Amino acid sequence: MPHVPVPRTPLPRRIAASGPLRGEIAVPGDKSISHRALILSALAVGRSRIAGLLEGEDVLATAAALRAMGVGIERTGEGTWTVDGVGVGGLLQPAGALDMGNSGTSARLLMGLVASHPITATFTGDASLSRRPMARVADPLRTMGADVFASPGDTLPLMVRGLCPAVPIAYTLPVASAQVKSAILLAGLNTPGITRVTEPVPTRDHSERMLTGFGAHVTVEDTPEGRVISLTGEAELRPQDIVVPGDPSAAAFWLVAAGIVPGSDLLVRGVGLNPTRTGLLTALRLMGADIQEANPRTVGGEPVADLRVRHAPLRGIEVPLELAPSMIDEYPALFVAAAFAHGRTVARGAAELRVKESDRIAAMAAALGANGVPVEEHDDGLTVQGSCGDPIPGGGTVATRLDHRIAMSMAVAALHARAAITLDDASPALTSYPAFFATLADIATQESAA
Ligand code: S3P
Repeated sequence: MPHVPVPRTPLPRRIAASGPLRGEIAVPGDKSISHRALILSALAVGRSRIAGLLEGEDVLATAAALRAMGVGIERTGEGTWTVDGVGVGGLLQPAGALDMGNSGTSARLLMGLVASHPITATFTGDASLSRRPMARVADPLRTMGADVFASPGDTLPLMVRGLCPAVPIAYTLPVASAQVKSAILLAGLNTPGITRVTEPVPTRDHSERMLTGFGAHVTVEDTPEGRVISLTGEAELRPQDIVVPGDPSAAAFWLVAAGIVPGSDLLVRGVGLNPTRTGLLTALRLMGADIQEANPRTVGGEPVADLRVRHAPLRGIEVPLELAPSMIDEYPALFVAAAFAHGRTVARGAAELRVKESDRIAAMAAALGANGVPVEEHDDGLTVQGSCGDPIPGGGTVATRLDHRIAMSMAVAALHARAAITLDDASPALTSYPAFFATLADIATQESAA
């Protein structure tokens, strides 16, 4: 019987309006990069050191699973970790089920890792993760020779029995998904020959960048069919010292918050600006947001800058469809920005939002609707009618549905609402941004509190 995780006790939270948001803040380490830093360090031969690791529940689930498969992982200070890698092919049979909690990235990337090792692992998760589609990963991994025994609908709990050696594949992604791409590339690491992934639509490229940094042979080619990533298997990875840049998906909440609360002037330091992640920045600028970049630099092989954001009137836009992959996690925050814009914002072409930690289209339609924002739900997005910069009515309760981004986005909406907004459960923020509410308390002011 797989171990069934115990749900956390809900933590309701009431958030009132704020005066101008002011000050300087840093955001936590990038979630995607933190998972990959642990995983690739685990497969290197020798000791890697990671600084700036995101210590949220999702990343800790990846660390715990890797430990259960024989990797030595220690926390040496705030955000600093050492990983004693076992080498590609060196993972051991875990004694119990691997609890992925709320983390789709942990589940999908680690399924790929197990698929080409001579081990069998059971993956479990919380109620949200247990509803999410895993066929997108299971199908290519089965083609590589792994067995995946999933629950009905190809969901968790599921068991992966790896094949060693696995069979290299050339695979075209049917959905734009960096998790699927990364799962296949990770399986390819311990597979003889060349594993090739074609992505018709480019997605975040942290895996490719970091694999190269660890010494794997990876080539990336732009072709008429899309971006083709080729990885030479049976790789030997060299341990690295990695600094994780700040998470643009965490910065997103502050960019929107300072953008909508009159008088705000906020400096967000050390934000990762990998072009596969900056769609929200582009969309907010199209809406008229005042966001300036300073001190551009490279951290951990990724472009980084400090962002100064000042309140500015926003206008509604049609969000360009091609931005979707580079802002896929930022739609909830964008919907909040739209709720304060002049005119209406139409965001479509993002049906993937329905299979994130929650159905984010339905969740945000309900959350904004309950707080007096007129919204129209589409199968692939939302149309949001803005308040022309006025406070929204607020006063409603938001079902956060085990989804960190719903909780944090609606906390931001509350900062410029006539009546306080209640989150039925704020605890999902712990998965990706444990300090979110402490940072909010640091920058919020009382001047015009409702
Ligand atoms: C992620 C990829 C995206 C994103 C998720 C993190 C990653 O998911 O939504 O939060 O780290 O690779 P998809 O791969 O499903 O698009």
